[in-house]
Amino acid sequence: MSSAPQNSGPLRLGIAGLGTVGIGVVKIVQREAALLAARAGRPVAITAVSARDAKKDRGADLSGYAWESDPVALATRADVDVFVEVMGGHDGAAKAATEAALAAGKHVVTANKALLAHYGQALAERAEANGAALRFEAAVAGGIPVIKALTEGLAGNRIKRVMGVMNGTCNYILTRMQSAGLPYETVFEEARSLGYLEADPNLDVGGIDAGHKLSLLAAIAFGTKVSFDKVELEGIGSVSIDDINLADDMGYHIKLLGVAQMTGRGLEQRMTPCLVPAESPLGQLQGGTNMVVLEGDSVGQIVLRGPGAGEGPTASAVMGDVIDIARGFRLPVFGIPAKTLAEPVAALSATPAPYYLRAKLLDKPGALAKIATTLGDAGISIDQMRQINQPGADDGDAIVLIVTHKAAPADIAFAMSQFAQTGVLVEQPVAIRIEEV
Ligand code: NAP
Ligand code: HSE
Repeated sequence: MSSAPQNSGPLRLGIAGLGTVGIGVVKIVQREAALLAARAGRPVAITAVSARDAKKDRGADLSGYAWESDPVALATRADVDVFVEVMGGHDGAAKAATEAALAAGKHVVTANKALLAHYGQALAERAEANGAALRFEAAVAGGIPVIKALTEGLAGNRIKRVMGVMNGTCNYILTRMQSAGLPYETVFEEARSLGYLEADPNLDVGGIDAGHKLSLLAAIAFGTKVSFDKVELEGIGSVSIDDINLADDMGYHIKLLGVAQMTGRGLEQRMTPCLVPAESPLGQLQGGTNMVVLEGDSVGQIVLRGPGAGEGPTASAVMGDVIDIARGFRLPVFGIPAKTLAEPVAALSATPAPYYLRAKLLDKPGALAKIATTLGDAGISIDQMRQINQPGADDGDAIVLIVTHKAAPADIAFAMSQFAQTGVLVEQPVAIRIEEV
């Protein structure tokens, strides 16, 4: 793609969305005009903005900018070079305005992972056909420059695995449950009152938001079309404080962990609760912070850690993209031309891994043996097993913890279904994958 700046006049931004991210962008442009001009080689200016409510006080002076109530009109204005889409939503105004901007040959910078996870391929093809940039650093892991790391710094590597904690709200909930000893429901409400949850909380706690982000990283890492519909998703709603504490006793922490890797069986993309070693960088990650681990054949392992959300960090990522556009730097949206991205073949099941199993059993002779036999019959080998006398547990019940050797997820699922036939279970058992990090 071309690399020559179109002109040396100001790069003119039209910003659709004046919420957390949009106002963060306005503040940087206003506060750092000289620095941005020096780094971009030309001034960066805002010409027009859009939001739903024209009367809202947004804590920033917007009087110098034209107001457009329709984001599509904003996106196609003659005095807008770069359309900054920070409204959100995978459909509706965000999609319509982004499509309109690209059709008009405007560059687009977006923080919208939902939009790209659903329509990334079509939007990338449209951008590249029209010679426009479509950049989305802010969409994945907020302030962490992970898109740049994958598309540029690690471009000489064959990427083996991409892994990470990419939803700060879930990591906040899981680490707060552990540090305060509180159940999920209590911490969920706390997160809601702190304003951490998306308008639709299931985007966070259902793993969907993090799955969107993982699908974008996987496309770049493996040269495949974005395939969010192939991400195995499981949220954190069923992670119990008991499992958090018991896993901790065994040297593990529970994370909503994304893993993407190309295997001999196809592309594996998972965003699920996993146990990771407590002492590992991922295990140590606290609160709303994000971490992305990139593994390349030449470089080995890179760990990127930083704020995944918030006004400053997300606006920082948007401005990095804006400055690249001002400098005339152009790359294919997902690292290689969109039309050459391969159709991904999804791996039908995840790579075998050790599993943590917890079962509450009737404390009677032979109960444990039945569980062990069921695992053996499913071809699963036990690495560690112990019985816990939990304070407060009902008399006559025993909690059994098992760590298996590596097992296929299908074998674990089969064993879990067979546990019900043993007649010794008191409640539904739990199985959580242990990820080797
Ligand atoms: P937000 O605070 O809810 O702000 C959204 C803005 O978009 C508001 O100003 C709203 O207008 C405007 N808007 C919504 N629908 C519109 C429409 N149909 N027409 C015109 N304006 C419209 O959202 P945000 O947190 O800044 O997030 C924006 C995007 O960044 C989302 O895609 C989000 O996923 C992504 N993102 C956010 C973060 C973060 O930390 N917040 C981090 C990474 C990525 P009104 O103010 O008038 O209602
Ligand atoms: N809801 C998201 C999170 C915001 O908690 O990480 C940033 O994408």
